[in-house]
Amino acid sequence: MQLTRKIAEDTYYVGASDRRLELFENIYPIERGVSYNSYMVLDEKTVLLDTVDHSVSRQFLENVRYVLSGRKLDYLIVNHVEPDHCATIDTILREYPECRIVGNAKTLQFISQFYDFDLSERSQIVKEGDVLSSGKHSFTFVLAPMVHWPEVMVTYDTLTKILFSADAFGTFGALSGNLFADELEFEKEWLDDARRYYLNIVGKYGVQVMNTLKKASTLDIAMICPLHGPIWRENIGWFIDKYKTWASYEAEEDGVLIVYSSIYGNTEQAMNYLALRLSDFGVRNIHMYDASKTDSSYLLSDCFRYSKIVFASVTYNLEIFPKMESLLLDLKAHAFQNRKVAVVECGTWALMSGKKMCEILRSMKSVEIVGDKAVSILSNAGEETQKELDALADALAK
Ligand SMILES: Cc1cc2nc3c(=O)[nH]c(=O)nc-3n(C[C@H](O)[C@H](O)[C@H](O)COP(=O)(O)O)c2cc1C
Ligand SMILES: [Fe+2]
Ligand SMILES: [Fe+2]
Repeated sequence: MQLTRKIAEDTYYVGASDRRLELFENIYPIERGVSYNSYMVLDEKTVLLDTVDHSVSRQFLENVRYVLSGRKLDYLIVNHVEPDHCATIDTILREYPECRIVGNAKTLQFISQFYDFDLSERSQIVKEGDVLSSGKHSFTFVLAPMVHWPEVMVTYDTLTKILFSADAFGTFGALSGNLFADELEFEKEWLDDARRYYLNIVGKYGVQVMNTLKKASTLDIAMICPLHGPIWRENIGWFIDKYKTWASYEAEEDGVLIVYSSIYGNTEQAMNYLALRLSDFGVRNIHMYDASKTDSSYLLSDCFRYSKIVFASVTYNLEIFPKMESLLLDLKAHAFQNRKVAVVECGTWALMSGKKMCEILRSMKSVEIVGDKAVSILSNAGEETQKELDALADALAK
């Protein structure tokens, strides 16, 4: 059965969703599934924009056959050569022997690394600003290197004013008939996953994202068609503003995020105490997570979301508790910066986690550690330590 939908003049959605996959990229939990989007433009020539992951290739091929309804496929534009979008290229080339692959020099290089077929007779290399005409539609190409792979480009159809944006503006979450963001409760039900998708997968490349946004700002965009998640045709500026906030490492909201690692509960109790005192000082929007319980992709996303972060960890064999250490290293790898943070350590005989957490945080750009060192808890936060936590709450509230 075909599962396609017309989304604009001559333009069809031919992608599909996967609700079975547990971990996207074998690391990010996706309870709401994920979609692999692909688009077809039927003009004098037929143009397919990107393919899909193996897991949904059967549905995708059925969609492509249905939309083409016996026509040949002339072009496959490849905006991104990551296997979640290019796993079906070989099948497309076999099934449509006249189809030519359109991509930049790096695109073609990467395809030849993933596949061993010879593309020399079947490819068309494009550069930034080149135009490919299919008849009524003409497609121009904007290179978007390192958003989040080096070969990434985005394609603009000057007739429909659609920007085919590759992974940019994508999100986790399977599509359920409503393909457009304006058909969904996006802010309520999708924004958290869009943020988690962006920050975990693309977050390291804020500078490159800003460069691409700048180039794209000269285009008159009526619709954004990403490779994952819903299509944008209303309120596009609102979503672009979110991207600008994330890409420039600004906090999205005033608020305090508390992340702790605790074995027996003493560190956890101290963080509950700190949260109450923050509340006394008028702080709102406080969120607290156990780093052993909540997957680090959610924690990383929230570290970028809020303006102030408290990291609290027990000492574990003279080290930071492993879940906390890996979160901090993950933040560093994602260029986490520009935040006010506090550090709390706990231990019973040789406290080391505070010093080591501060070392990692100091190696990041523009991260201010309140008091420039950790607040220490000796086994359990007694009266003296509570006073230090009061002072910490006061400093964070200011
Ligand atoms: C495997 C293991 C290793 C530990 N290593 C240290 C250590 O190197 N230094 C230290 O001061 N405490 C160490 N501790 C003790 C805890 O950090 C300490 O009891 C802490 O106060 C517990 O806080 P919690 O109640 O939040 O888990 C270790 C505990 C465990 C279970
Ligand atoms: Fe990708
Ligand atoms: Fe992708």
